[in-house]
Amino acid sequence: MVDAFSLAETLKQQNQEHLLNDVDSLGDAERQAYLERLSQVNWQELQEPAEHIPMSAVGASRVVTLSERTERRDELRSIGEEALRSGKVAVLMVAGGQGTRLGFNGPKGCFEIGAHSGKSIYQLQAEKVLSMSRRVGKTVPFLVMTSPMTDEETRDYFAVNDNFGMEDGQVRFFSQGTVPSIDESGKVLLAGPGKLLENPDGHGGCHTALVSSGRLAELQKEGITQIVYIQVDNVLAPVDDAELIGLAVVEKADVITKVLEKAHPDEKVGHLVRVNGRDHIVEYTEVTPEQAREKGDDGELIYRWGSPAMHCWSVDFFGRLAEKGFTLPLHRSKKPLKAWNGSEISEVVGWKNERFIFDLVPAAEISLGLEIDRIAEFAPVKNAEGSDSPETTRQIASDYYARWLESAGVGMHIAAGHLIEISPLFAATEEQFVANWDKRCDSISGDFYLESDF
Ligand code: UD1
Repeated sequence: MVDAFSLAETLKQQNQEHLLNDVDSLGDAERQAYLERLSQVNWQELQEPAEHIPMSAVGASRVVTLSERTERRDELRSIGEEALRSGKVAVLMVAGGQGTRLGFNGPKGCFEIGAHSGKSIYQLQAEKVLSMSRRVGKTVPFLVMTSPMTDEETRDYFAVNDNFGMEDGQVRFFSQGTVPSIDESGKVLLAGPGKLLENPDGHGGCHTALVSSGRLAELQKEGITQIVYIQVDNVLAPVDDAELIGLAVVEKADVITKVLEKAHPDEKVGHLVRVNGRDHIVEYTEVTPEQAREKGDDGELIYRWGSPAMHCWSVDFFGRLAEKGFTLPLHRSKKPLKAWNGSEISEVVGWKNERFIFDLVPAAEISLGLEIDRIAEFAPVKNAEGSDSPETTRQIASDYYARWLESAGVGMHIAAGHLIEISPLFAATEEQFVANWDKRCDSISGDFYLESDF
């Protein structure tokens, strides 16, 4: 039971007394739930947004480039395979975002993206984990972070689809928290009487939610040491990546961040950089066009390495941060918001708050970048049209699968407008594809779809 008196005192001290204006008009249960929620809010952090990094101190991070990967391939693969086959790896997918930019009414993962199969993003991501589990002979845990806005629909969707063939207990949902929005003077906004105006607390909410849901403890108990982290919207994000795991194990890394050479200095991605001896990821919104063009002593752009938001986190690192009670700061973004003003809903300009998972990177003692081949790993669905849209994603995936077919010796004569799709259950990597192809045909000239033999 919330102590209403001390809550009122706290709200007064925090200059948030307006939140109790309508409280007497609420029914008992509603009032109780509202007071409960108010008692959980960290008022202080709402007034202290994350600090921007002083750009003068920015330098280059240690990145294992594609050429270094080639040299170390055998070593990294064999160590990674060993970890995978001994059940030390889990996959975590963040899927709590509302997908507003995509203009899709529902969790982004339910969006049907398969060029010919019409499979949803959730199905494709789940099938990648399933394919890896079959390959390594272990049930790889698949953690799916939802938010209060996507949780029920996501769970129902997996349930009606029999968890896409996964084992019982393999898919593990956990929900992130929410955080209130504030107006320009720092006052928390309402969505209606007895209801704060809130949004999911960003993918950074994942660390706290892993701990509070007990999912982290579960992984620790099972002896899982590495978490492969992907975002639901990157349809090509690989999960079966022995080199990534191998590098994390060999380097005893708290975190490995995959990076790609930016397509152009102004590409809208976060950047992996080193500041005062620690790696950081600096969002594109915090870098000016001049800074984006600055070069270091080696003649390379300082903001050279873009982050496609794929990491390998050490479970031990997550555990150590949890023990310290580490919390991620809030980042603010100015937005037009629809808020309750005491008598009606009206539009106000306010601040939406979110935590970013990559703010954990500076806490890592050992952090490295791993360069990736863009076409093989990065095809995000973010917008309804134009760049990073379903159309570009299907095309990027198709171009990538065409490369697999070429590697298998197939003559490719595809005219514009035709697409290739290969099920992750047939092959989740180029190497598996070549091994499984078995000379099915010599050339391809139109649409092509290959499902699993399983
Ligand atoms: C993000 C990264 C950017 C990176 C780019 C690569 C941020 C702030 N920026 O940009 O550095 O280069 O991806 O594609 O993340 N999500 C949640 N809960 C939330 C909010 C988001 O689970 O509360 C999930 C979404 O479902 C999505 C992912 O996080 O899978 C990315 O979120 P989004 O807001 O779309 O990030 P971007 O701005 O595109």
